[in-house]
Amino acid sequence: MIKLTIIDRDDSSQDIEIPEGINLSLMEVLKASEYDILATCGGLGICATCHVAVVEAPDSLPPVNDTELDMLDTLPEAGPNSHLSCQIRVSEAIDGAIFKIMGESN
Ligand code: FES
Repeated sequence: MIKLTIIDRDDSSQDIEIPEGINLSLMEVLKASEYDILATCGGLGICATCHVAVVEAPDSLPPVNDTELDMLDTLPEAGPNSHLSCQIRVSEAIDGAIFKIMGESN
């Protein structure tokens, strides 16, 4: 199992466990776990409403890609730890990571 800790907008924190090999993005896992994120573009990386901040992550978390950088540049609240959750694949590489939900709610 891959264990992640998710901090919601109200600072409440919850651990979620995801089976290995599931091949979903973090955005898809958050939606499936009933977190309130818009993800308007459905994961194409063009809406930035799935914005998360990385609070803690293993070194194996891939750095932001060019798609993310372009979109994050449009968000005033984005910081050096910002990512788009639709661009993060859930795998063993992010086991133990802590993410804070930042994007717009419904
Ligand atoms: S869902 Fe639109 S950028 Fe991630």
